[in-house]
Amino acid sequence: MVGDSALGSGIGGSITTEGVGKVVDSMTSHCKLGADSVVCDLGAGIGRPLLQMAVSIAPRVTFGIELDELNAGVRYGGVLNSVLKHPILGSRLASASLPYVQQGDFTLCKPPLACFKSGLLVTHVYSFCAGMPQGTMGGIGNLISMSPCIKGFALVMHHSHNILKTLHEFGFPNTISLVDSIIVRQCGSGAQYRAYVFSR
Ligand SMILES: C[S@@+](CC[C@H](N)C(=O)[O-])C[C@H]1O[C@@H](n2cnc3c(N)ncnc32)[C@H](O)[C@@H]1O
Repeated sequence: MVGDSALGSGIGGSITTEGVGKVVDSMTSHCKLGADSVVCDLGAGIGRPLLQMAVSIAPRVTFGIELDELNAGVRYGGVLNSVLKHPILGSRLASASLPYVQQGDFTLCKPPLACFKSGLLVTHVYSFCAGMPQGTMGGIGNLISMSPCIKGFALVMHHSHNILKTLHEFGFPNTISLVDSIIVRQCGSGAQYRAYVFSR
């Protein structure tokens, strides 16, 4: 499937547009996600959630970090072009600041997490990190712990009976609060995941 990663770890693909919409609504209500936000998708794939956020709420900056060169390059470019050509979404996207996907390994990023192009500090993080190994989850926890401007983040994962305990074991800070837990489905497979939304 497009969006699968040859090099990356964890699960490929995206959750549905409806699922991303629910996550965006929740982060807007609970975590002050909005037009002033600097949003980063850790493991951005081919950029679908980033483009959906740009089209729906037009954050100040929307960018992603993606391990797989093809996803970050030609595949993202193809999806971006098709959204730009869309009669309705295209004009919305053209008036937003264009999202971009930087090829790289986010576990190697030096905190605090900042936009590569503008240097602005990230305020909101999204990651479909189901199945990513412990070290990679630790990398997300470290970036969130060490990034003072992060107000909220959403993690799409397998259901966990005690998500806060799980995340603390991965090195996430103790100062996070779980504000929402949303059932979401993967595009294509229909597999069910949870989008856990946290504020800080
Ligand atoms: C489940 S996909 C989600 C893609 C996108 N966020 C979406 O929802 O459409 C996870 C992505 O994370 C990428 N990934 C895994 N580990 C990574 C790392 N350490 N640094 C950057 N990207 C990573 C994979 O290559 C894959 O494209």
